[in-house]
Amino acid sequence: MKLHGNMSIQGSNLYIGGYSCLELAQNYGTPLYVVDEDLVRQNCREYMKYFKVKENNNRVAYAGKAFLPMYMCKLIDEEKLYLDVVSGGELYTAYKAGFPMEKILFHGNNKTIDEIEMGINLGVGIFVVDNYYELDLIERKCREENKTQEIYFRITPGIEAHTHDYIKTGQIDSKFGFALVNGDLNNALEKLQNYKHIELVGIHAHIGSQIFDIEPYLDEVDIMMNLVKKIKESFGISIKEVDLGGGIGVYYTKKDKPRTIKDFCEAIIKRAERTCHEIGIKVPTLVIEPGRSIVANAGSTLYTVGSIKDIKNVRTYVSVDGGMTDNIRPSLYQAGYECAIVNKIGYDKINQVTVAGKCCESGDILITDTNIMDIQSGDILITASTGAYGYSMASNYNKIPKPAVIAVKDGNTKIICKRQSYEDIIELEVNGVLELELND
Ligand SMILES: Cc1ncc(COP(=O)(O)O)c(C=O)c1O
Repeated sequence: MKLHGNMSIQGSNLYIGGYSCLELAQNYGTPLYVVDEDLVRQNCREYMKYFKVKENNNRVAYAGKAFLPMYMCKLIDEEKLYLDVVSGGELYTAYKAGFPMEKILFHGNNKTIDEIEMGINLGVGIFVVDNYYELDLIERKCREENKTQEIYFRITPGIEAHTHDYIKTGQIDSKFGFALVNGDLNNALEKLQNYKHIELVGIHAHIGSQIFDIEPYLDEVDIMMNLVKKIKESFGISIKEVDLGGGIGVYYTKKDKPRTIKDFCEAIIKRAERTCHEIGIKVPTLVIEPGRSIVANAGSTLYTVGSIKDIKNVRTYVSVDGGMTDNIRPSLYQAGYECAIVNKIGYDKINQVTVAGKCCESGDILITDTNIMDIQSGDILITASTGAYGYSMASNYNKIPKPAVIAVKDGNTKIICKRQSYEDIIELEVNGVLELELND
C-alpha cells in the first residue's frame, strides 16, 4: 500500500498524523474514517499557490460533493478557498458552519424553487445556471426581492474526459448545461437581454473526473477563452470569470499515474495567458473546482476483519465490518483501492484475498484479488485514499450505521462526525400503520 501524506511506519505499525492506526481502531471503534488534516491543508495550499490566487486574483473553489461535513467548511474557509455546492443540503451545511455565503458557487442541473429561494435569501455569490427553467426562476425571485444575482452559465464544451481517455465530440447529449454546438448557448444569451435582475459574470464547464491528462484541460481553456471573445463581440457582455471545473485525478492503485497539482495549475494558467494573448483579450479571473484531489488521499478507512472464507483453488473472501455502505465506489464504478493490515506492515507471509463488505449483496466487494500480509480474523485492515466520495456517498443500506469520522494531526485527534447509532437510523421513522376506516 502506498503511504500518503502524514502516514508513517514504526516497526510494523502504521501511523497517520502521528497516531497509531491500531490505537485509533481500539479507541474509536470500526469502521472508522480517518482524515489526515495536514494533507488536506497542504493540498489546499498547493492549489492556492500554483493557481496564482494572490498574484492573479484567481479562485480555487473546493467541490463539496467530495466530502462536506461542517468541519470541511471551516477548514476550507480558513484556507481561503471558495466552495462549490450542488444542493440545498450542502448549502445549509455551509451556512450552519458559518462559511461566507458570498464565496459560494451554487451548482446543480435541477435546483428546486425552494433551493433557489434559499440561495438568494442567503446571498450566495454565484448561481451556476444550468438551464432556461432555472434562469426564469432566479429572475422571478430576484424581481420580487428587488435584488440582482450574479451568475455563470454552465457550458457543455464538447470535451469528455475520464482517466486517460478523452474525446472531442461536440456532444450535446448531457444533462448538464447549455451546449455550444446546437445554438443553445446563443439562445440563452439572447434571452438574457430580457432579464433585468441577472448579471452574467462568468462561464463554467466541467469535463469529467479522475483525469490524468492535462491536454483536455488545455482544449477546454481554448474553447472557453474563444467563447469569452465571441460573447463580447456578439452580445456585448464582458465575461470576467472563467470556471474550468474540477476532475484532477489521484492515486488509488499502481495503475494510476497522477500529475501534480502544480503541473495542472501551471499548464492551465500558461495556456490561458497564451490563448488570450493570441486572440487579443484580457485574461479573465480563472476559477478551478477540485474535490477529489484535495481530500481523496487524505482519507483512509479502518475496518475489523471478521469471517474468512477460503474456497480452495477459487478465492479467499475476507469480510470486514463495513463495505458498500461506507464506500460505494468499488460497486458503482469498479474503483480500485489498496489495503494493508495496520500492525503487520512488512510481514513476509502473503495471502491473496478478496476483501468483501458485510451487505447482503454479492457485489459488495471492496477489493478483488489483492495481496495482503498474514491476515486473520480480528485484524484491523486499512483501505487508503477513501477521503473523496466515501462518506459523502455513504448510505444506511441494510440499516448499517454510518461510521464516525475523525481528523488526526500531530498525534491529536478530533471527532468530526459522530458514529450513527441504531437509534439515529430509526429516528425519522413512525412506528405505526395506516389505520383504515371500514364502512361496516
Ligand atoms: C461541476 C463540478 N465541479 C467540480 C467537480 C469535482 O470533481 P473532482 O472531485 O473530480 O475534482 C465535479 C464532480 O463531479 C463537478 O460536477
